Amino acid sequence: MTHASGTAQPLSLSTAGLLAGTVTVPGDKSISHRAIMLGALAVGETRITGLLEGEDVLATAAAMRAMGAQIERQDSGNWHVHGVGVGGLLQPMQALDMGNSGTSTRLLMGLIASHPITATFVGDASLSGRPMGRVITPLSLMGAAITATPGANGRQTLPLTITGLCPAVALEYTLPVASAQVKSAVLLAGLNTPGNTVVIEPIATRDHSERMLAGFGAQLTVAESPQGRIITLHGEAELRPQDIVVPGDPSSAAFPMVAALIVPGSDIVIRNVGINPTRAGLIRVLQAMGGNISLLNERTVGGEPVADLHVRHSALTGIEVPPDGAPSMIDEYPILFVAAANAVGTTTMRGLEELRVKESDRIAVMAQGLGACGVACEELSDGLIVQGQGGDPLPGGATVAARLDHRIAMSFAVLGLNAARRVTIDDARPIATSFPTFVPMLRELGATVRN
Ligand code: S3P
Repeated sequence: MTHASGTAQPLSLSTAGLLAGTVTVPGDKSISHRAIMLGALAVGETRITGLLEGEDVLATAAAMRAMGAQIERQDSGNWHVHGVGVGGLLQPMQALDMGNSGTSTRLLMGLIASHPITATFVGDASLSGRPMGRVITPLSLMGAAITATPGANGRQTLPLTITGLCPAVALEYTLPVASAQVKSAVLLAGLNTPGNTVVIEPIATRDHSERMLAGFGAQLTVAESPQGRIITLHGEAELRPQDIVVPGDPSSAAFPMVAALIVPGSDIVIRNVGINPTRAGLIRVLQAMGGNISLLNERTVGGEPVADLHVRHSALTGIEVPPDGAPSMIDEYPILFVAAANAVGTTTMRGLEELRVKESDRIAVMAQGLGACGVACEELSDGLIVQGQGGDPLPGGATVAARLDHRIAMSFAVLGLNAARRVTIDDARPIATSFPTFVPMLRELGATVRN
């Protein structure tokens, strides 16, 4: 995708007084991917508003077009999708370029697994190092034939080619890792599979797929049991087109939220943020650290709980973050590390093995960057212990490598807003994968950003 080619675009930030104002963040990335995919499988016109127009979602849209769906942008965030019907995906004529997007890759592999087509997936250097075995295993059990590239540490990686089986074999699968992507890949494969496909998740992960599948008319039940959540999808579904309103992404809201908490004098409102309990772990943790965050105007938008967040500068205190909440804030740890660096005392975060296989190894990359910015931290195999600097400006004065990881880039940008010396991100282009309006939003709040 575009950020992987051309020259690096550095970004520099320094302390420039308080942040103030009311902002919105782009649409939820997870929900945007799913809206395009399910719209592309429904017969008729699905209308989406608030779609995230980031590179990851555009990669999903391009792939669904290559497999026969008509997908048109009307104006900003407003998209129409004419689907092909479950079972109607066409053979793509070229390799599907997934750019940086693990969600696109793993969910689309699920869709293709039960269609009689073959597709090759390619991606950028970050995505090409990420493990695909976690979806290859269940999708192969359903009958898909998948050939992947051997990667480091015995991983199965991109480029990979998948040939679906139609009809595929229904599966009951207990997730070996807490992953909404794996859960969703199996459920999406189940859409075109006769009988019931069952996913058991011992630890709950984001439930956008379940909510949206039910909204599109699929027969799906969710039961709580001693083994965890049991999700049963009745296959050979007929999906009905929907009007979908995508709420603001809590994972994107996390950046202005922490920025306002750590920059003295700040007082901001972030409008229209998704607060689905399977995503809202960061708010709970920051409040437990003393963060002044109030939820205003709580409401339901398009089947998802939403609120406006009022965030004020706060004296934060380090805590032990409960590891069982990790799936509900898995993408927010990099920015939580930055909040912890600005707290009084030590913050201990464990249970984070999954962070090592995100767009980068987020434990190692954050530990390195925090160290370079003068923050003492100890890397654990499954987490990080951060010594808070008490809330005074951090030393800063470093150039940090973003390593093709949007959330690393944005985390250090926020760190730079309360740093004694300028912080530079070596390449800010990956930010466009999830938050194309990040820099304008920071400027709107009063930050000084040089690029
Ligand atoms: C996502 C699930 C999570 C998350 C990713 C988006 C999704 O990944 O990190 O950014 O949309 O299902 P895992 O399933 O690997 O935890």
